[in-house]
Amino acid sequence: MSSKEIISVIPNSTLYDVEKIRNDFPILQTKVHGKQLIYLDNAATSQKPISVIKKTQEYYSSMNSNIHRGVHALSQVSTEAYESARIKVKSFINALGKNEIIFTRGTTESINLVTQSYGRANFQEGDEVIISQMEHHSNIVPWQMICEEKGAKLKVIPINDEGEIIFEEFEKLITHKTKFISVVYVSNSLGTVNPVKNIIDLAHQNNIPVLLDAAQAVHHTPIDVQELDCDFLVFSGHKMYGPTGIGILYGKINLLESMPPFQGGGDMIETVTFERTTYNELPYKFEAGTPNIAGAIGLGEAIDYISQVGLENIALHEKYLLDYATEAVADIPGLKIIGTAKEKVSVLSFVLDDVHPHDIGTFLDFEGVAIRTGHHCTQPVMDRYNIPATSRASFAMYNTKEEINTLVNGLRKIIEVFG
Ligand code: ALA
Repeated sequence: MSSKEIISVIPNSTLYDVEKIRNDFPILQTKVHGKQLIYLDNAATSQKPISVIKKTQEYYSSMNSNIHRGVHALSQVSTEAYESARIKVKSFINALGKNEIIFTRGTTESINLVTQSYGRANFQEGDEVIISQMEHHSNIVPWQMICEEKGAKLKVIPINDEGEIIFEEFEKLITHKTKFISVVYVSNSLGTVNPVKNIIDLAHQNNIPVLLDAAQAVHHTPIDVQELDCDFLVFSGHKMYGPTGIGILYGKINLLESMPPFQGGGDMIETVTFERTTYNELPYKFEAGTPNIAGAIGLGEAIDYISQVGLENIALHEKYLLDYATEAVADIPGLKIIGTAKEKVSVLSFVLDDVHPHDIGTFLDFEGVAIRTGHHCTQPVMDRYNIPATSRASFAMYNTKEEINTLVNGLRKIIEVFG
């Protein structure tokens, strides 16, 4: 479907009722500096529907108890709610089993788990790990740390001017020394959707495992880990309308089984003596200590909410918003979009001649418009474009064309003010 067709289909669609969706998000009623909040910083964190807020509250008001530990009624209730959230995650990404779903604090911790467990056990001096130039710092620094520790080398797939991986360069980077590939599914600062299936297929032809950072992907596009055949997939709850401090590591069962624990403590053990500890079965081997129980249950509720609206519907609405915004800013003098990949999600990063992104962000804030400015935890992307920062508007299921109009009007005022 072309973008023009989408534009004509969506506003009249009875299937997608954006006002009804907005009513589910109480924070959208907030006023900022006396203006109606227009929240366009969804790639940093999304807002939460009332069902997620209520579920989290319900956990503390009527279920709160530690999991996997008590025979008493409350502990059974909270354990069941926590484990049923795991099953929701399993179904959401179509994992083979619930034991492949590890609750973590978020994407960053999930990646650190893989580098510190898989990497520490498997990497040796001279090995190579491949990432891309558009990675978030959380998919760079943990690999740098383990490579430094093991004497391995980090290799980087370059990106072109549009912000797309240069696939031929990726092919050239693979050698018999390549031991791991870790790439972002969707870039947080450019919006690029990477050809992850092709990357995985090529990696597997060379017996190399692949981790996908899906933090910016899971709430924009349906993901089937079995179809993708990725070895690991990581994401956070808070970007997908769920709570902060909860995230997921999906791993293929045979890999997770072969990996040593990441952290030691309660719940991850089977038996402990001072001489020797044996470890719990999956997924608990990787969940040391009392987890974010409320967060996991809230994440399960967020998955229910997304499923109810329909990921395909959300994706179509967001595509409409991205196309609309891209067209709307096209004739703003001095504005340049950073990230013009053919396959993009609803992220609009841009620079404006002679106006620093922080000034843009501050000015827009006084119009009630929240965007993110800075390097977006992707400094190498900024270096690639030779810029210090961008302004980034990122759209979610509850954003509207009218909100984009306010953003664009704000940008025009900025040009007037800053000359
Ligand atoms: N990674 C988040 C962002 O892109 C914080 O803003």
